[in-house]
Amino acid sequence: MRQQLRVLFVCLGNICRSPLAEAIFRTIAPDMECDSAGTSDWHAGEAPSEPMQAIARAKGYTMSDIRSRQLKSEDFRRFDLIIAMDAQNVVNLEAVRPDGNGTPVKLMTDYIADNGINHVPDPYYTGDYVGAFELIEEAVQRLHADL
Ligand code: 4NP
Repeated sequence: MRQQLRVLFVCLGNICRSPLAEAIFRTIAPDMECDSAGTSDWHAGEAPSEPMQAIARAKGYTMSDIRSRQLKSEDFRRFDLIIAMDAQNVVNLEAVRPDGNGTPVKLMTDYIADNGINHVPDPYYTGDYVGAFELIEEAVQRLHADL
């Protein structure tokens, strides 16, 4: 029996990697609660990046309705599992963890078969949206299978 977990995906801007993870997860696990957030507020209120949306759409996932929001301490209480895209996200997450809260924070790449990869490179800087899509899709499918 699959666990009913509330899952939060976290990246820096909440316009590329984490909203894509949210869009894929909610498609393959429509009965589970999930959301995404950025450690920064740089894009709060904005729709996901156009190139990321285009790739997601071509693969059958909709992310156009998602709006960027900043992570809050309260998210540690609202969610059962938090998945970060890179090590800096983890540092920023731990900085706002409420005292005594034990919500697990994992890396998206913990769910990738190729264990030589330890972060999802940020396509906002690398321009490699397809590479980010492929990593995140594999990881979200594996995460869902593991629940
Ligand atoms: P994300 O990508 O963390 O995958 O949403 C980024 C988007 C925007 C910026 C950085 C990363 N930015 O510097 O504005």
